[in-house]
Amino acid sequence: MTSGPLYGVDVGGTCIKGALVDPATGHLTTKRHRIPTPQPSTPEAVAHTVEEIVRHFSWRGPIGVTVPGVVREGVVSTAANIDDAWIGTDAAQLLTSVTGCPARVLNDADAAGIAEMVYGAGAGRSGLVVMLTFGTGIGSAVFYKGELIPNTELGHLEFHGMAAERYAAARNVERDDMDLTVWSRRVGEYLRYLERVLTPDLFLFGGGISKRFSQFSRVLDVATPVLAAELRNNAGIVGAALAGGDTEPARGHRTGPKETG
Ligand code: BGC
Repeated sequence: MTSGPLYGVDVGGTCIKGALVDPATGHLTTKRHRIPTPQPSTPEAVAHTVEEIVRHFSWRGPIGVTVPGVVREGVVSTAANIDDAWIGTDAAQLLTSVTGCPARVLNDADAAGIAEMVYGAGAGRSGLVVMLTFGTGIGSAVFYKGELIPNTELGHLEFHGMAAERYAAARNVERDDMDLTVWSRRVGEYLRYLERVLTPDLFLFGGGISKRFSQFSRVLDVATPVLAAELRNNAGIVGAALAGGDTEPARGHRTGPKETG
C-alpha cells in the first residue's frame, strides 16, 4: 500500500463528497469537499461533479470512487437509487477520462465495509462479517476471513413481499417519519432473517443513522453481535481511497485481519 495520501470520492443520491485520506490511520487529511448530486444523476453529470471535487484539491494521482450499485471490473450493472443511465456504463473509464486521474470504482457499501474492516469496528475481526449500511437503501458488504465478497446486495433480498431495503432502510425514519422503535423492530426482523441464512459471526451497523445506535440497539434482538460502525459518514470516502490506491485488481480487497479465533 502507498504511504502518501490517497483520494476517495463517495457518490451518494444526495451529495458527492471527497477528501484526501492518510492510509496509515484512515483519517481524512483535508476537510471533505461536498457538492450536491446533480439531478438527474446521469453518469456524465456525476463525472463532472467528481472532476470538480478532484480539482478542488489539485489532485493528480489515482482516485477511488464509490457508486450505489453493483460494479464489476469498473462497469455498473444496477442503479436502484441513482439514474438508470448508469446501467452498463464503464464508470472507471468515464471517470478516468473526465478527471484525468486513474479511477477505480466500487460499490458504496463495499467501500464502507473495507474502511470499517481496516480502521473501524471490524478491525481484527475474522470469520463472517456482514456490514450493512442503512440510508436511502440498504447496502451490504460481506467479508470472510477479511476478504471482501463484493456486490452482495443483501438489501435487495425479498422480505415481506418487497425489497428488504424498502421495508427497513433508514429512509423510513429519516424521510417518512416512521417511529424509531417501529423501524428498529423491522431491522431486527431483517437481521434475524440474515442470521438464519448466513450465520454471520458479526454484524456491523453503518449509515448515518448508526449515530443513534444506542437508542435502538436493544430493540434489535439478534443473537449475533451487532456493532455500530465507527467511521460514520467518512467510511465511503476512506474505503474508496484505499481501493483507489490499491494495485490489486478491483475484484476483492484483503483487509488482513488478525485471527482472533
Ligand atoms: C444499491 C446498493 C447500494 C445501497 C446503498 C442499494 O439500493 O442496490 O448497491 O450499496 O443501495 O447505497
